[in-house]
Order: sequence, then C-alpha cells, then structure tokens
Amino acid sequence: MLISLKNVSKTYMMDKIEIPALKNVNLDINTGDFVCLMGPSGSGKSTMLHVIGCIENQTSGDMIITGENTKTMNDTALSKFRNRHIGFIFQSFNLISVLNVRENVEYPLVIRGGKINRSHVESVIESVGLADYMKHRPDELSGGQRQRVAIARALVTNPDIIIADEPTANLDSKTGGKIIDLLMQLNSDSNTTFIFSTHNESLSKFAKRTIHILDGEIVSA
Ligand SMILES: Nc1ncnc2c1ncn2[C@@H]1O[C@H](COP(=O)(O)OP(=O)(O)OP(=O)(O)O)[C@@H](O)[C@H]1O
Ligand SMILES: [Mg+2]
Repeated sequence: MLISLKNVSKTYMMDKIEIPALKNVNLDINTGDFVCLMGPSGSGKSTMLHVIGCIENQTSGDMIITGENTKTMNDTALSKFRNRHIGFIFQSFNLISVLNVRENVEYPLVIRGGKINRSHVESVIESVGLADYMKHRPDELSGGQRQRVAIARALVTNPDIIIADEPTANLDSKTGGKIIDLLMQLNSDSNTTFIFSTHNESLSKFAKRTIHILDGEIVSA
C-alpha cells in the first residue's frame, strides 16, 4: 500500500472553537492509482489533500506513506519527505511571476540543491506540451498553459504521488477536460499516483476511483 490513513482526524481551532474538518478517516491508496476526491464546498477536500500531501499535520491518527509514518517526523523531516515524494498542484497555479516557464519548473530542484539536469527539465516541459514556451513568463500564458507549467513543476522531482486540489476550477470546461486528459496520460505513462479533487461530477468519470467526502467523513470509497 502506498498511502494508508488510519483514524485520521484534523481539527482546526478558531477562537477556542473546534472545527472538525476530518473525522476518523480510514483510507488506502495503491501505487499507480488515479483517484478523484469529490465533495461539496467545506466537506474537507483541501484539508485531506493537505494532510496527505504533508503540507499540514493531522490532529490525530496515523498516516503511512511509502512505509513511513509521518507522525514521527518533525517539520524539517516532513518538508524533506514532501520534497522527495510529493508534487502538489494548486487551483490557482501558484507560479512565480518573475520566473519563466523553465525556471518555474526547475524551482523544486533548486530548493532540493545539487546539480540540475537541463535535459530532464526540458523533457518534462515537453511532456506537458509546452516545448515552445520555455522562455515565456506566467503572464504571457493562458490559464490552461499555466496549469501545465504547474503540472511540470510537480513532475520534475519524479514524485511518487501527485496531488492536485481542484486543478481545473479556474479553467473553462474544455481546457479543464484537457488538463484531466493530460494527468491521465501522465498517470498511464508512469507509475505515479494521482489524487485530484473537484466539485465537478463530470470530471470524476475519468478517475479509476472516486472517493466521496461529506462533512469530513468518507461516505464512499
Ligand atoms: N485554516 C483553517 N482554519 C479554520 N478552519 C478551516 C481552515 N481550513 C479549513 N477550515 C474548515 O474546515 C472545513 C473543511 O474545509 P476545506 O477547505 O477542507 O473544504 P473543501 O472541501 O476543500 O471546500 P472547497 O470546495 O470550498 O474548497 C470547513 O469547515 C472549513 O471552514
Ligand atoms: Mg478546497
């Protein structure tokens, strides 16, 4: 099993009031899976992806990824683990506006340190269909192209898991469909596991597996 959540709960505190965002989630995800996480606004999709993506810690329960229990890791160890195993794609792309496409895609490798393999970076950019846009800056690209850059940036470290939180929410439906097509193609070309969330019922049909979440609980998996 690649990812295993055992009784994972996440509670936010706001003005001393507890907000339960995830309640005793039990979930297993296999290597190579293509999982869609569906649920209404506020149901806990982002929280779940942030916990699985090691961006936030759970409040209780265990999460085992690639055989390691993330609960035993401090913040430094957790961010190292994240850089090694996980690529994250955000709804709002989160590109660096002063860097061009190639520099944005290289960025996780710069953070990691060590020598950067230019031809690897270029082949990842080619794999998302942006070979002709290496020198463009984000504001010179369409929304769909920006999301492709974000996908390339997530792929460049060869992560085991790619997590995408509503990757199509800021795109028109045709462009969004093409982005999901690209994720599916990358999933079938590699052993990388993909988990994406969406509000959009019509996108979930592409997934190998759909998980429904409601009020912080998994209602079907
Ligand atoms: N940083 C935070 N502090 C306090 N409460 C939070 C925080 N982040 C999320 N929540 C609460 O946790 C619950 C789940 O939120 P979450 O963002 O995971 O939902 P979501 O399914 O991603 O919603 P959306 O579809 O609108 O993005 C909500 O009640 C939300 O208000
Ligand atoms: Mg969300």
